Amino acid sequence: AGKKVLERDVVVIGAGISGLMTARRLTQAGRSVAVLEARERVGGRTWSDTIDGEFFEIGGQWVSSDQDALKALLRELGKETFQRYREGDSVYISRDGARHTFQGDFPVGESTLAEIDRLVEALDELASQIDAAAPWEHPRAAELDRIQFSSWLHSLSEDEEAIRIVDHYIAAGMLTKHSHTFSVLQAMLMVASAEKFEHLIDEGILLDERVVGGMQSVSEQIAAELGDDVVHLGTPVRRLEWAAGEEGAAADGQPGRVTAHGDRVTVTARFAVVAVPPNLYSAIEYVPALPRPRLVAHQHQSMGLVIKAQAAYPTPFWREDGLSGTGFASHERVCEVYDNTVAGDEHGMIVGFIVGERAEDIWALPEEERRRAVLESFAAYFGEQALEPIAFYLSDWGSEEWTRGAYAASYDLGGLSRWGHLQNEPVGPLFFASSDIQGAGYMHVDGGVRIGTDTAARLDTAFRAAGVEPALLSV
Ligand code: FDA
Repeated sequence: AGKKVLERDVVVIGAGISGLMTARRLTQAGRSVAVLEARERVGGRTWSDTIDGEFFEIGGQWVSSDQDALKALLRELGKETFQRYREGDSVYISRDGARHTFQGDFPVGESTLAEIDRLVEALDELASQIDAAAPWEHPRAAELDRIQFSSWLHSLSEDEEAIRIVDHYIAAGMLTKHSHTFSVLQAMLMVASAEKFEHLIDEGILLDERVVGGMQSVSEQIAAELGDDVVHLGTPVRRLEWAAGEEGAAADGQPGRVTAHGDRVTVTARFAVVAVPPNLYSAIEYVPALPRPRLVAHQHQSMGLVIKAQAAYPTPFWREDGLSGTGFASHERVCEVYDNTVAGDEHGMIVGFIVGERAEDIWALPEEERRRAVLESFAAYFGEQALEPIAFYLSDWGSEEWTRGAYAASYDLGGLSRWGHLQNEPVGPLFFASSDIQGAGYMHVDGGVRIGTDTAARLDTAFRAAGVEPALLSV
């Protein structure tokens, strides 16, 4: 059978939240769109599935209370949410292996608590000096981007435990890279994207709610409303032919001619939105090749690596011990755990995270040993009962060709100050959109909603400036 050939105002590559949000807002503004998605499903890094009878969020799932753009979208779509269970004590396992329960402040000495406050204050102060949408504009951007986050922490404090705790939240908790591989400027962006450090750790803000039916259902609903004529699955885009402007003039951000060659569909359009994570830009062949600065810049963003490990149990047994399910142990294989039970479900679920080199080590083990190793780490927090789950799942995003890691992409040392200013700039008629190049909501679903909305607005403005009116009336 011949390949389908479509003609549209805009072709969007990737049906994650960023691409789908771009398509939703563009069609609402009366523009015609096709979305080409490599996988046989939409949602990208959000993926909800039932495995061995249990409901698993394999990818992104939580909504923080300050993520206004995502929350507004959930209301727009009529989605319901539920709160994460967090009553009772959290567990902290210190480096000597001692297990402590606590509420509020970490159960560490007074002087360590004071050191944590001091480090957080220093980081907040730096973060307050940047715009999350343009960290490279900081007058000392180049200098701050040359300093490893780990070195910076050690230059400010000699309290190893305080350093480990602050390091944990940024490195293991967010960027999912070791703190010697990214810069202070990159850490500042992470903090500024959530306004301040506290928003990345506060129990009342972070990981506040979940979506009934799963986070992927947000993308599924948007795709269903767009329809099969718009969203094409199983269609990796292999080649993108583009020319800037009507005359081929080198005008960025103006309508041009684009042909996206997907496996099942070819689309010609005036603009393309490359809504894939930056580490995948180079998996597409551009004809002509992208300009030199992009060819260089695109090599400096890479995915972090984290395994999301989940185990279901007949009941949330830890609650009977007065535990919330929240736990931290920066030296444990599973360095962070939470209660991941679906509200109203009688079965309980624990979710934990294994980051960086530890994730590589885990994948190197045979399957049975791997499972045992993760469950033993769960048992360090919750006792022997954690060894006997009724369902168990490890999210393997590192082996997903259309993602290649988790949670998101960030710059190598020096990359953000040097190349960041290019990341949101179009090349001819090609725009870029993903949560990984967004300021507010950086690396989160909320960021995807924001950049999708912004990209659609930028395209609509560009169409109007070129005198191309919408084909339909806005709704
Ligand atoms: P995303 O990667 O989702 O979408 C890109 C799409 O492009 C994919 O569907 C891909 O298949 C497709 N694609 C790639 N190349 C292509 C090609 N050549 N042709 C066609 N299609 C192509 N966030 C949050 O807010 N709360 C949370 O709790 C978490 N937790 C979390 C856990 C885990 C394990 C992960 C992996 C991630 C999270 N996140 C998260 C992050 C969040 O999931 C992420 O920031 C967004 O879902 C990213 O959405 P995008 O649309 O930008 O990229």
